[in-house]
This record gives sequence, C-alpha cells and structure tokens, in this order.
Amino acid sequence: MSMPGPRDGGLARLRFFHRDPLGLFQSLIRDFGPRVQFRMGPWTFFLLNESESVGQVLAHHRPHFHKGPGLEPSNPLIGQGLLTSDEDDWIEQRRALAPVFRPQNISSMRPWLEEAVDQSLQNWEDGEPFDLESRMLRLSLTLALHTLFADPSHDDWIPEIGSDVTWLMDHFYRRSRSVWRFPYNVPGFNRRYHAHAQRLRRVVDRLTPTTPPFDTVWPHVSKERERRYHQTLTLIVAGFETTGHAMAWALDLMARHPAVESKVLQESGQDVFPTPETHPWTHAVLLESLRLYPPVWLLSRRAVHDVTLGDLRLPERSITLISPWLMHRNADVYPEASHFRPERWLGWKPESPYDFIPFGAGPRRCIGEHLALTEALMAVSRIVNRYRLIPTGPRDIFPGLTLGASAPMWVTATPRAAARGG
Ligand code: HEM
Repeated sequence: MSMPGPRDGGLARLRFFHRDPLGLFQSLIRDFGPRVQFRMGPWTFFLLNESESVGQVLAHHRPHFHKGPGLEPSNPLIGQGLLTSDEDDWIEQRRALAPVFRPQNISSMRPWLEEAVDQSLQNWEDGEPFDLESRMLRLSLTLALHTLFADPSHDDWIPEIGSDVTWLMDHFYRRSRSVWRFPYNVPGFNRRYHAHAQRLRRVVDRLTPTTPPFDTVWPHVSKERERRYHQTLTLIVAGFETTGHAMAWALDLMARHPAVESKVLQESGQDVFPTPETHPWTHAVLLESLRLYPPVWLLSRRAVHDVTLGDLRLPERSITLISPWLMHRNADVYPEASHFRPERWLGWKPESPYDFIPFGAGPRRCIGEHLALTEALMAVSRIVNRYRLIPTGPRDIFPGLTLGASAPMWVTATPRAAARGG
C-alpha cells in the first residue's frame, strides 16, 4: 500500500526544504497525516511522525536500516567513526567505547567538569552583552576535551579546534546544499577547506585520552592513524555543537521564565554532584528545552533492502526521515506543546519512549547522553547560581547541522548579589 503524500513537484519541494525544512515537514504532516511519502529532487522520502513507526525503524527493525545521507557531507572529517559506520564495524566500535560513557565513569569526571565550568565563568563581563550561543559552544568544547582528553595542556588548543571544527561543519552544511561541489582532490580548489582541515589535523593528532577507562579503550577503537583521527573528531563533533546548543537554549528559556529560574536557583547551592534526583527542576528545564529545541532535529535512515513493517512498505535504498522537533510537538502527548512547561517532567514521562527522542532511540541511541546531561546539569546550575542572565530580543531557530539560533543570542549577565559557592 502506498503512503499518503503529494505526488508532484520534487524540485519545488527541494527549494522549500533548503529554505525552511521544518516548515516543509510541518505542512506535509498537517496535509497528509503522520506518515507521508513525497519526492524531493529526484529522490523519494518517507517522513514518519508517530511513535509506533519511529520505534520500528529506530529500534525493533534497526538492522534493516543504515544511517541515511544526513552526515555524508562531513565524511572527510568523521570518516567511518561510531556515528556514521554500520553493521559489524559499528557493533565493534560501540562495544569498545560503551564503558567510557557509563554513569559511574562520568561521576568520576566531576573535578574536570567543575574546573572547566568555573574557568569559563572567570571572564564573564558584568553587564556587557555577549552571544550566549557561542559562549556555550566554547564551554561545551572545553568540557568535551577536559572529560575525554583530560590534559590541561590541551586548553591552549581549544580556540583553534573550536574555530576549525565550526568552520568545517559550516562548510559541509553549505556544500550539502550547493550544486557546485568541486572535488577535494583537485589542486587549486577548496583552498580554505584544506587550510582549516590541515590545521585541525595537526592539533587533533596530538590529542591523547588520559581519562580512565578511555585511555585503555582508545587503542582498540583507533588502531591506525586515520581511524584515530576520525574517532577523535566523531566524539568532538557529536558532542560539541549538540551540548553547546542544548545549554544555550536551556539558559535562554529559563532566563525568560523567572519563576522557573528561581526554582533552579534554589537547587543550585548544594555542594553535590548534580543528578536528576538532587536537581529535579534543573533536569526538567533541560528535558523541556531538549523537547522544544532538540539539537539533532532530523534523523535519517536508508533501507538496506525492501522492508515491510505492518502496512508500511519501504523500498530498498529509500530514505526515512524522523524529526525529533516535530515528534516533540505532538499535542496529544504534550499539552500546550509549543510552550515552555518544565513542570510537566516532574514525576512524568511520555508513555512511549519514541515520543521523546532528543538522543535518538534503539541501539543507536546517543552514547554520550549521560555525559551530555551531566555536563549540562552542572553547567546550567553553576551559571544560574552566579549570574542572572537577561536576554535581549526574541529568538528564532536555524536548523543547520544542529539546531541553533538564526542570529547571535545576545544576553547580559549580572552577578547575583548573594552568589553562593564563590
Ligand atoms: C545534548 C547533547 C546531545 C544530543 C542532543 C545528542 C543527540 C544524538 C542523537 C539524536 C544521536 C542518534 C543519531 C541517529 O540515530 O542517527 C546521537 C548519536 C551519537 N552521539 Fe550524541 N548527542 C549529544 C551529546 C553527545 C556527546 C556529549 C557525545 C560524546 C562525547 C555524543 C556522541 C554520540 C555518538 C558517538 C553517537 C553515535 C552512536 C551510535 O551510532 O552508536 N553525543 N546523539
């Protein structure tokens, strides 16, 4: 049975997608229901927006699907690391890296996490506007390097790594939307790309994990030089923009809701390693901002062969799209879905695990989820404890490789008169 959907206009839709991808998906779901088949350019896509089919593709029938084309443009940077590899290669890498991200290991990273946040707060100017998003991106990169490659001498490289990774990810994003793609191996073309890539390579090749058990696991997942480079960048790329954007959105939303902010402030004075139990409001703020602004706003999968899931037939090589951003706005699951209501998470979670998917779902769910939530919990709590943030102006989203803001997120920070904990 073919799925509902428009049967026309692949090119017009591709233009719409480039201009406003989430607007396109919203209009398809509104017009055709939660499972839509449509053409875009020469390709056929299936957009799924209901928990049952999402669970089938991401979890129950995962081996029938490989990663989709979403990350292909960044292949020169992340190669076939954990994020992009499939089948046996993926299973081997996932098994090897899993111990690094276990909760007990992440609790042992507490000193590095605290140090990174406190260092980043040292030079916050009183009353001077700054871009919250770029500051949180930098903090997130510092956190990633401190926790995974915990050597303070790496700190000098953070601005370089940050600017090169950001430039390169932006380059891949633009390239994926352009009809002019000069090959990288033709001399004279893509000079700026090569300059950034070479500089990044020189620095990344010198990063060595020193945090246990990462230091012992590392040789198994990065046997040769090329693989090591791709694995390092996979972890940096997967964790850097996602966590940075998550922290920026959470702080921005909270600053606009003083009643919520005061709950988070009350929790922030405790001298404990923050967990969802010790900091329930801060945790709820993070979940609610991940719901409204999931940094990974689109997941894609390619069917390895013809797949039939009940009455759903996905032909070989067809692309299935799942948008956490859209799934999170389902009013049947989330009353007042477009509003910031962190209290909904206190003692509640959606019935289906596939209704809340900021970290994906199934065996390919984010390996860094616990690390990201711990970092964000600690950072948001410490920042709120010391500063009152005041946002200037409204925000709009920019769905790039991750979901950021369309313009700088200007805020001012005022130190709290009764700042606790120094
Ligand atoms: C708020 C922060 C984060 C968000 C929202 C996020 C989101 C996601 C999502 C949605 C996926 C699944 C992609 C798919 O199914 O196609 C994923 C996978 C992954 N994430 Fe995260 N992530 C975050 C932080 C991190 C961190 C801190 C790290 C590591 C340092 C990390 C490493 C990875 C890796 C390696 C994968 C691939 C896992 C696999 O395929 O086995 N992520 N992430």
